[in-house]
Amino acid sequence: MSQPIETTERHDGEPREPVAVDSIQALTRHVGNDVELRGWIDHKRSSGKIAFLQVRAAGGVVQAVASRADLPPADWEQIERATQESTVRVQGLVKEDRRAPSGVEIQLRGFTLLFLTQEFPITPKEHGTAFLMEHRHLWLRSTRQRSALRVRSEVEQGIRDFFYERDFTLIDSPILTPAACEGTSTLFETDYFGDKAYLSQSGQLYLEPAAAALGKVYCFGPTFRAEKSKTRRHLMEFWMVEPEVAFLEFDGLCRLAEEFVCYLTARVLDRCREELKGLERDTTRLEQVVGPFPRVTYTEAIELLRQAGAATAWGDDFGGEDETLLASRYDRPLLVTHFPASFKAFYMQPAPEDPRLVLGLDLLAPEGYGEIIGGSQRIHDHDLLLARIEQHRLPVAAFQWYLDVRRYGAFPHSGFGMGIERFVAWMCGLSHLRETIPYPRMLYKIYP
Ligand code: 4AD
Ligand code: MG
Repeated sequence: MSQPIETTERHDGEPREPVAVDSIQALTRHVGNDVELRGWIDHKRSSGKIAFLQVRAAGGVVQAVASRADLPPADWEQIERATQESTVRVQGLVKEDRRAPSGVEIQLRGFTLLFLTQEFPITPKEHGTAFLMEHRHLWLRSTRQRSALRVRSEVEQGIRDFFYERDFTLIDSPILTPAACEGTSTLFETDYFGDKAYLSQSGQLYLEPAAAALGKVYCFGPTFRAEKSKTRRHLMEFWMVEPEVAFLEFDGLCRLAEEFVCYLTARVLDRCREELKGLERDTTRLEQVVGPFPRVTYTEAIELLRQAGAATAWGDDFGGEDETLLASRYDRPLLVTHFPASFKAFYMQPAPEDPRLVLGLDLLAPEGYGEIIGGSQRIHDHDLLLARIEQHRLPVAAFQWYLDVRRYGAFPHSGFGMGIERFVAWMCGLSHLRETIPYPRMLYKIYP
């Protein structure tokens, strides 16, 4: 379907070709010029004489205004036929429009319908979540979903910049692993040429040897937990970023987690204004995310919960409701530290003041978003670590390489892991993790 391209006259009388532009951001660099842009019809409104097209392209949506009188009749006819999610090519003059989210609009001079879409399943009317999840691949096109994914993308870029600027080295940890890192009850098992292998629950164990090689390292990749829980805070596959730092001890770890969360929050506020608007996120609570964050020990937290009427007793892990209750007492994230060793991972360093406790930290987000970060100082003593591996009934042979970090140049070190989806849910004000990842993997749900 090729169409003659409308052109305007240049000063020298030569026809001016429209510039092909491939993103909404690029449009702003072409104010006053004729451009050509391909995309999809997000929304259309027409009076029969004038039409307003919301055209979605890379980076956002731009309004294209078409006046019947200014267009060749064939082009106007195609505008009339264009439906929601039809593929189109628009040509026209870029004009500044300060009120528009993109900052510009296009005065149409030409229009080509490249693909006529019939009955796009997701219409502006309300759909149930089950229906939307079945159509996740199409749902991605909606404003809220696009906004959330752009926030996610910005967060991921922010993470890389944060560590890059602080001299960390990125270490890509393996997905197929021979042993558990975070408990044996949530492993996805797979066959590895006749041996058992598991999808990684965390890259941490592989980062610790790398910290001896490179000092400050981080990994960032997908992790897997076969959690038989259907909560809004759990996915089977989620992305985790994990720094691991040589010679960093517990207090420094708490400060690193705090600095990291403040940096990323400020970055989202600074660079995702339109997206947060699209999500109708009230940003006043996010603006309060500045350090220092309040800190309580686990024992203090249990006492706070008891006073609030919760049944959680000393020695119990927190449930989601406990986390919400605790965090709601503060206007910024809360650091909970010094947990009982009994329900924490085998590698956590005991607290010097009470060996029943470990130097572990959980960072709880406000507004009910729960645990965003979990981390600890690591045991650096060989014999103690070996004893813990045995107590946890983990296969010692599979951990020999991990014990080597304590055999050759042992060093105190600490690290944490942050779940990207939980952080993005909090930034976006989304109540369920399923909208923070393009294709969520949930209990019994793996389509599309
Ligand atoms: O607290 P977790 O289990 O810690 C670890 O895996 C450590 N090895 C990290 C480290 O010290 N390097 O998980 C860390 C974070 C949680 O705080 C949460 O944000 C996220 O990962 N997370 C999940 N996110 C979505 N769905 C799940 N099922 C999650 N489980 C953990
Ligand atoms: Mg945890």
